[in-house]
Amino acid sequence: MSDKPVVFSGIQPSGTLHIGNYYGAVRRWAAEQGHNFNIFCLVDMHAITVPQDPAELREKTLETAAILLAAGIDPQRSALFVQSDVGEHAQLAWLLNGIASMGQLQRMTQYKEKSAERREQSTVGLFTYPLLMAADILLYRTNFVPVGADQKQHVELTRDLAQRFNATFGETFVLPEPTIPALGARIMGLDDPTKKMSKSGGRSGHAVGVLDSADAIKSAIMSAQTDSGSEISIDRDRPGVSNLLSIYIAATGTTREAAEQHFAGKGYGTLKREVVDALVAELAPLQARYAELRASPDHLRALLTRSATAIRPIAQQTYADAKRAMGLGLGSPGGQE
Ligand code: TYM
Repeated sequence: MSDKPVVFSGIQPSGTLHIGNYYGAVRRWAAEQGHNFNIFCLVDMHAITVPQDPAELREKTLETAAILLAAGIDPQRSALFVQSDVGEHAQLAWLLNGIASMGQLQRMTQYKEKSAERREQSTVGLFTYPLLMAADILLYRTNFVPVGADQKQHVELTRDLAQRFNATFGETFVLPEPTIPALGARIMGLDDPTKKMSKSGGRSGHAVGVLDSADAIKSAIMSAQTDSGSEISIDRDRPGVSNLLSIYIAATGTTREAAEQHFAGKGYGTLKREVVDALVAELAPLQARYAELRASPDHLRALLTRSATAIRPIAQQTYADAKRAMGLGLGSPGGQE
């Protein structure tokens, strides 16, 4: 393995990738590839913690791979693979079941939110989700995990588990750090700017998908909820306008000060129109590249399989180390499995 810092991150290949995923995570993954050893994972085993249609999940896995490549993930510089192709993810997650406490998992905000309405019916996988995520990260001796703000708590849990494992069984895991963008870490729903934009938001007007047509983007942004008043600035008490302005800043790459100055004295209609233009300008070239990549599914499958083959030995080694440290299996005098 190279001595560059290891960056690992994942995305669920369910629903349609939206601009929250893009600005909170994917665009940064692509931009920062040069300096690191990069591994990006389509976490299909996380996706099945809520019901999925099998054929659709397989389609979405290829779709998400093509979107990531279209967004600039370069297979020469980054591994891009499907989680279920490397069995050690599930195996290490099981070992972590023996370390994590119920209380720790019960405190996870994502679990509380996702299971709130139907706790008894929600899957066990939804509860132990963070352990699979911890396994993803720890298997590759990851230093940095670029994620949106909603995943910070899971990366911190991963760090705690690694620390506890190392203290109990000997130095095995590297302690990862989350990296969260200063802006775009939490893009909010357009229909309700007090709630995070999410793939499961489902309602029309909730999210902008990165594959949405210019018309769909226009209709979602123009009908986005705004606030009373007319000032255009980032302000905790004005979540609708703050969200639109954050999207504008993320899409144009301008600064908060410059954006606030640019919109001084202008109305919400102008802000919305300029957000639409900025999003269309950014997403149209991505969509053109996506269409080309998606037209060659065999090429996508081959690329994903090649990546899984390339990184599997790292996962196997870490899993073998963890297994041995915990006293599992018969081991061998040389310490190799
Ligand atoms: P997922 O698939 O929900 O989201 C993928 C990435 O997008 C970020 N994100 C957002 N950022 C800004 N605003 C939003 N509204 C928004 N919604 C989502 C997420 O923070 C994430 O970075 N559990 C992870 C997937 C995962 C993972 C991992 C991540 C599994 N294993 C290991 C890192 C490392 C998830 O559900 O992401």
